[in-house]
Amino acid sequence: MIDRDGCNGRDGQRAASQEGSGAGGGVAEQRQNLMSVRLRVWRQKNLQDKGRFEEYEATRLTPDMSFLEMLDVLNEDLQRDGNEPIAFDSDCREGICGMCSLVIDGVPHGPGRGTTTCQIYLRSFADGATITIEPWRAGAFPVLRDLIVDRSAFDRIIAAGGYASVNTGSAADANASLISQARSEEAFDAAACIGCGACVATCKNASAMLFVSAKVKHLNMLPQGQPERRERTVAMLRAMDEEGFGHCTNEYECEAVCPKEISVEHIAFLNREYLRAQVIATGFRPVVTDE
Ligand code: SF4
Ligand code: FES
Repeated sequence: MIDRDGCNGRDGQRAASQEGSGAGGGVAEQRQNLMSVRLRVWRQKNLQDKGRFEEYEATRLTPDMSFLEMLDVLNEDLQRDGNEPIAFDSDCREGICGMCSLVIDGVPHGPGRGTTTCQIYLRSFADGATITIEPWRAGAFPVLRDLIVDRSAFDRIIAAGGYASVNTGSAADANASLISQARSEEAFDAAACIGCGACVATCKNASAMLFVSAKVKHLNMLPQGQPERRERTVAMLRAMDEEGFGHCTNEYECEAVCPKEISVEHIAFLNREYLRAQVIATGFRPVVTDE
């Protein structure tokens, strides 16, 4: 995965180190590039603990290290000194899985647009900066430990309708079902949602409408999603309500922090889908039912 500055993710630091140790006094150059930051990190033992900020000095860093590598280095230091490491989520570290979930200086996924926490590099911060790191803050995402929250509420919303139960055949059968370029691209844009929850974490209403709209639109735009189209829309919104997420009041904060730049236009689509499902439930049959 290439980040927006052309650095190869986790390997970027290694590549930079190799360059630095080559001919031409690389070691001195590497020393020059070392940086340190002061971290204010949310520590919380478990669900019941009230939690608090603790401060740490992270040293021996380079600008090409990823933000999560910095936490790895800090954790190694903490463990070596007999302290509890900081718990945080990550998996792919390539902007794909949606696991990484840190609020950095008040912004879910930190500085930069269209970027996950794992794609943030220390060159985005000044040497000596103080950086505040918190977990997602939302009632429906309880903090399990330190920076890890329980996002199983999203799984339950998906279980309520984020699937297609028709037999869609094998890969070869896909060619038999024609889908316009425009429609497939819209569905694909929606399918880019990685379920990270940043949209919820940034919204003053803790609304999950951007997430739900992406999941609904992804399936409702495609032929395979038509049999359950109405039920899916209603069931996923009902599940969202039951999980305690709020509703959209057009703040646009979700779109601003979404690492996949999911547009709030998807929420408008979701609202139309919901209205249509409610009207059809009354027995009324509109002449045109598709977008
Ligand atoms: S809509 Fe964006 S911010 Fe929300 S869960 Fe999906 S990828 Fe994350
Ligand atoms: S760790 Fe997978 S998206 Fe960040």
